[in-house]
Amino acid sequence: SDPRLAHIKESIRTIPGFPKAGILFRDVTTLLLDHKAFKDTTDIFVERYKDMKIDVVVGIEARGFIFGPPIALAIGAKFVPQRKPKKLPGPVVGEEYELEYGTDRIEMHVGAVQPGERCLIVDDLIATGGTLAAGIRLLERVGAEVVECACLIELSDLKGREKLKGKPLFILVDFEGE
Ligand code: PRP
Ligand code: MG
Repeated sequence: SDPRLAHIKESIRTIPGFPKAGILFRDVTTLLLDHKAFKDTTDIFVERYKDMKIDVVVGIEARGFIFGPPIALAIGAKFVPQRKPKKLPGPVVGEEYELEYGTDRIEMHVGAVQPGERCLIVDDLIATGGTLAAGIRLLERVGAEVVECACLIELSDLKGREKLKGKPLFILVDFEGE
């Protein structure tokens, strides 16, 4: 496996008890403080996607906005944000998704992604998979093609990958059993 991955994993801080008791929060802000880890992370994604004819990198609010744009710039793709409700000023399409308690929603500007465009969805982490699954549904509703989802971190114990309807998921670090 890629020798850069061990350092990337070590650069991610774990904070027990945030945002509530029993949760081990995986904090990517410490990765951003480490130039080598942030650069290697971006490079690994760029190496994978540069020749995959990606038209659009889609970032999911909020942490997909950190990792998506450097990839989009390097591979010559557009960047499109999928945002929490009532943040985007123009006409939007939205998708609801389940949380542990209740539902949340992400929205995207109408016309930002065209039918047939090849999309890569980027987020920092997949847990239950509800967020990425909503992102996929949103893109498919406007006729786009989701080529792959990319996350830095997978919490594979939660089996979120199974919610992605067979869409490929590429990850750098798994905290399985941790
Ligand atoms: C976190 C994380 C992913 C999502 C993963 O975001 O950044 O986007 O949860 O969870 P899931 O796979 O169970 O859906 P969060 O909604 O906490 O918000 P933020 O990125 O805006 O901080
Ligand atoms: Mg998020």
